[in-house]
Amino acid sequence: MPLLERIETALTHHLARADSPSSPPQLVMAMHHAVFPGGARIRPQLCLAVSLACGDNAPELTNAAACAIELMHCASLVHDDMPCFDDADTRRGQVAVHKAFGEPLALLCGDALIVQAYQCLLQTPSAHPERTLALMQLISDSVGAPDGIVAGQAWECETRVELSQYQRAKTGALFVASTCAGALANGADPQAWRGLGEALGEAYQVADDIRDVMGDAQHLGKPVGQDVHHGRPSAAAALGLAGAIQYFEGLIQRAVASVPAGPRQSSLQKLVLMESERLVPRHVISHASVAPV
Ligand code: IPE
Ligand code: IPE
Ligand code: MG
Ligand code: MG
Repeated sequence: MPLLERIETALTHHLARADSPSSPPQLVMAMHHAVFPGGARIRPQLCLAVSLACGDNAPELTNAAACAIELMHCASLVHDDMPCFDDADTRRGQVAVHKAFGEPLALLCGDALIVQAYQCLLQTPSAHPERTLALMQLISDSVGAPDGIVAGQAWECETRVELSQYQRAKTGALFVASTCAGALANGADPQAWRGLGEALGEAYQVADDIRDVMGDAQHLGKPVGQDVHHGRPSAAAALGLAGAIQYFEGLIQRAVASVPAGPRQSSLQKLVLMESERLVPRHVISHASVAPV
């Protein structure tokens, strides 16, 4: 089954658990709105691609980990768009959850998705309970404090922020969790997969910063110009646009070089390069390497 189909099937299955006659209907609708339709689903794709490279010997547990990671990501986007954060009206080409359902339900929807993420793992029967526990620890670290999404978002409330620490926590940590989870779910050593998650995670946030300056809201499905508007630290502000694009290119090369040798090495490298082209197309990179943008 293609990776994206496997992810959508598993997400539908895991989210259906929240949809019971005893659930407040608007909360269930808000959760669906936050998860479907998806964006690039890059984090669960990475998790599954690494799992395949490690033998894919526990597919249900791997699917649960991939879903948990994507639900954590969706929750972070719901909260990120709220008026107390970025106050964004659109996400993934539709109205943001707080605009469609109001702020109280957006807050609760994000909370419910975080809990649902843990339930994906807890409610998946596994012949390897030690793997489930290790996955819960890994994913918790990547979304909490001191080094996960919560910490990353909290750096925006500080007066002094170090850009790479902020971006590693805000975005990088969940990418590292995605690659490492693919290995852990199979009982393989996650350390070999850290480098890929670190390089691609940083590349992703640098690309997000570049697209926030150069991108088009219609195409991206979310507002642009947000970093300057909110005075956020960003790679484009720190390095200039041309510098950020060159930095992105270097991170992609590092990500490609970090894919461990093995039968799936070239398909994982292809996934990284396809994402690179989608995020910041080649013609933009070559232009930046010869002239300031
Ligand atoms: C957006 O993430 C926020 C960042 C951390 C860069 P994605 O670009 O992966 O968003 P979706 O999931 O494709 O919408
Ligand atoms: C979002 O960062 C990262 C999260 C952890 C939610 P941004 O605020 O830069 O991402 P977009 O541009 O809204 O997707
Ligand atoms: Mg933000
Ligand atoms: Mg935002």
